[in-house]
Amino acid sequence: MRVLGIAGSPRRNGNTEILLDEALRGEKESGCDVTKLILNELEILPCQECGGCDEIGICVVKDDMRKVFEEIERANFIVLSSPIFFGSLTAQAKVVIDRFQGWWIAKYILKKMRDEGQKSGFFICVGGQERPDFFNNARMIVKNFFATASIKYVGDLYYPGINKKGEIKKCSAALKESFNVGKSFCKE
Ligand SMILES: Cc1cc2nc3c(=O)[nH]c(=O)nc-3n(C[C@H](O)[C@H](O)[C@H](O)COP(=O)(O)O)c2cc1C
Repeated sequence: MRVLGIAGSPRRNGNTEILLDEALRGEKESGCDVTKLILNELEILPCQECGGCDEIGICVVKDDMRKVFEEIERANFIVLSSPIFFGSLTAQAKVVIDRFQGWWIAKYILKKMRDEGQKSGFFICVGGQERPDFFNNARMIVKNFFATASIKYVGDLYYPGINKKGEIKKCSAALKESFNVGKSFCKE
């Protein structure tokens, strides 16, 4: 089984990346083949609404999104992590999601079916405040993205009230829950 971890935070080794790494550790222990993408290290232009995908259902902008598309196509299980930024996902995560417009066109307008087998996806999120409405907002965006990419949304973890870099390490239950995501959803 191929697993793709996507780190959406600009902060390296921050709270969401720590949780993502725990999930990926669980997946590796289950014998899965694991790849991790750090979105902030990729050069990805926001969707230019150029219409290039309208007839073909494929994004025509040539940048590091090609790597993201390729990895998502190869993966069976996707773990997306992002902190809450202004009640939503990070810009890094949102830019990637918007670039899936070609896939939206392919699926809903051109009715082109992808034949890559069933994919599943999980969302890991941390916020500094106690704002379940912000998390619900982020979750809806991820659900919509997963539906577009034909990724079955199988669950999420959300930890509010966590702000400082690495603060999540003090929360052993959170680390364990993330590790268990990797362990329970991934089979060799
Ligand atoms: C630009 C910015 C915007 C933020 N907006 C919110 C917010 O709207 N709600 C919230 O709960 N936390 C917000 N936070 C706090 C982060 O979600 C929190 O610090 C989180 O632990 C960061 O995770 P990371 O270490 O993985 O980057 C914001 C942080 C930044 C830097």
